[in-house]
Amino acid sequence: MKGLILSGGKGTRLRPLTFTSAKQLLPVANTPVLFRVIQAIRDAGISEIGVVIGDTGEEIKAAAGDGSRWGVHLTYIPQPAPLGLAHAVKISRDYLGDERFVMFLGDNVIQGGIHSLIRQFASSTYNSQIVLTEVADPRQYGVAVLDEQGRIARLIEKPKDPPSNLALVGIYMFDRHIFDAVEAIKPSWRNELEITDAIQWLVSNGFSVYPYVHKGWWVDTGKAVDMLEANSLVLSELTPHIEGSVDSDSSVDSRVTVGAGAQIINSVVRGPTIIGENTHIINSYVGPFTSIYHDCVIENAEIERCIVLENCHISDLPARLQDSLIGRNVSVGKSSHKPRAYKLTLGDYSQIELH
Ligand code: G1P
Repeated sequence: MKGLILSGGKGTRLRPLTFTSAKQLLPVANTPVLFRVIQAIRDAGISEIGVVIGDTGEEIKAAAGDGSRWGVHLTYIPQPAPLGLAHAVKISRDYLGDERFVMFLGDNVIQGGIHSLIRQFASSTYNSQIVLTEVADPRQYGVAVLDEQGRIARLIEKPKDPPSNLALVGIYMFDRHIFDAVEAIKPSWRNELEITDAIQWLVSNGFSVYPYVHKGWWVDTGKAVDMLEANSLVLSELTPHIEGSVDSDSSVDSRVTVGAGAQIINSVVRGPTIIGENTHIINSYVGPFTSIYHDCVIENAEIERCIVLENCHISDLPARLQDSLIGRNVSVGKSSHKPRAYKLTLGDYSQIELH
């Protein structure tokens, strides 16, 4: 089997971070979401992986390289325009050939990996297998209706009035018949070739499509709140280790990871939390559910349930920073100059809540 990761898209709902970073490269528990997807496919025993890229392709190539660091071989497939998931399959036909493949959306984070799923599909004669999970608001997703035997009866993309609460998770397995399906369907109202419509075409034309109902958690990291949620869930499952230094005035609990060269000085760090390499935490409180990336300084501050990217300097905060996503090279601090006012230099589409 081969793997196909979709890593195009503009990530407009994660602005301003996605003005300077591909959304798939934003980290969850200090590892980019795309790297987690590559690892999940590798751990399922697949080493040939195609990565569909768009406008942010160069950045993705520079970050993931040829895949050798994970023991896989990555092949980049440029998608000229974001014309839908089924369009991405269409342009990957030469790469995929006649092999069965797993397609994984590069911004999805799922609990427990995909090895059992891949094993089931690899040893079956199914034409396709899709992953479903119960969600609170199915209107945002592709939705499946199952028949009495638990087989797929019908699929609808983002229904206004959802007929079930089973959403399509961004992991799909196909054989070569999907290429007939993507040729046959027409663009949707959002002018995209929908993978949901292509799978419905398989069902309508008598091909076998089986559901796998996923019971663990799953997050599609489209918005900041989703990133924070995925971060909390992944941190809860991390095996902690301490490589950096923790001084005797600090308290760091057993669910905290401290990267090499990091220093915790006169601070309290509550897990699950990860502190990146060479980051300094001084006279501060950090955690739980917080990821501070490499080369940051946090001084005289309290931070809870946040993601902070590399090279940030956060100091002397008058209140606790909470539920926040902070980009690279950001400085947040207190000024001793008059007048006493908020002074902000914010990128386009930034969001600030002040009390
Ligand atoms: C896409 C699919 C949708 C699926 C979702 C999972 O939605 O079209 O069927 O449920 O991924 O993340 P999109 O991210 O394009 O809105």
